[in-house]
Amino acid sequence: MLKRREFLVLTGAGGAAVLAVGARPARGRIRIPSEEERTMTYTAKDYSRLIGTAGFSETLLKNHFTLYQGYVANTNKVLDIMAQLAKDGKAATPEFAEIKRRLGWEFNGMRLHELYFENLGGKAGLDPNGRLAKAMAASFGSVEAWEKDFRATGAMRGIGWAVLYEDPVNGRLINFWINEHDVAHPAGCRPLLIMDVFEHAFMLDYGLKRADYIEAFFKAVDWTAVEARSK
Ligand SMILES: [Fe+2]
Repeated sequence: MLKRREFLVLTGAGGAAVLAVGARPARGRIRIPSEEERTMTYTAKDYSRLIGTAGFSETLLKNHFTLYQGYVANTNKVLDIMAQLAKDGKAATPEFAEIKRRLGWEFNGMRLHELYFENLGGKAGLDPNGRLAKAMAASFGSVEAWEKDFRATGAMRGIGWAVLYEDPVNGRLINFWINEHDVAHPAGCRPLLIMDVFEHAFMLDYGLKRADYIEAFFKAVDWTAVEARSK
């Protein structure tokens, strides 16, 4: 139930209004970003710790890091352009619409790569008695059935991502195919395990043998990081 309590307008980095709250749930917990947070630009993280990961050559990883840095730079660029267009009173223009559409692609390109790199470099396998394994078995019948489905999702023709999502509504785990970076994300679900299946993620090392890359990916998963994403 909504209760009219206050009206807030926050101003974004480029001067554009980014949040207007005229009415909010009485128990709402919208986070109010600090001055520092709302004016920050995204910074590329350093994943050089992954160099040396079995199954991933140094050249492939370095190329991949460079691509990721491009998404970070472009996310900042798109946000700046969007804010400037709004400030200039050009929000109803095709330019604004196109840059707004672009934001989902660049932002997800940035964030998915971070989730991907952060679920690599693991030393231990999936704990068969852990909550994640139990949730996989509950959702798919067995951990093996989940893995088979995830590998098949990643092996689909096309460029994109295989993502294991957790639906917080009922705890169900579902493997999704994300087309490119931005198509088919399930609203409100939590990404647990992310696998990049754009060709740049494997072709240098494996050519067209995507299944071999998926095998290497599974050997390199940091299951501790994956488990920690579930709440
Ligand atoms: Fe990638």
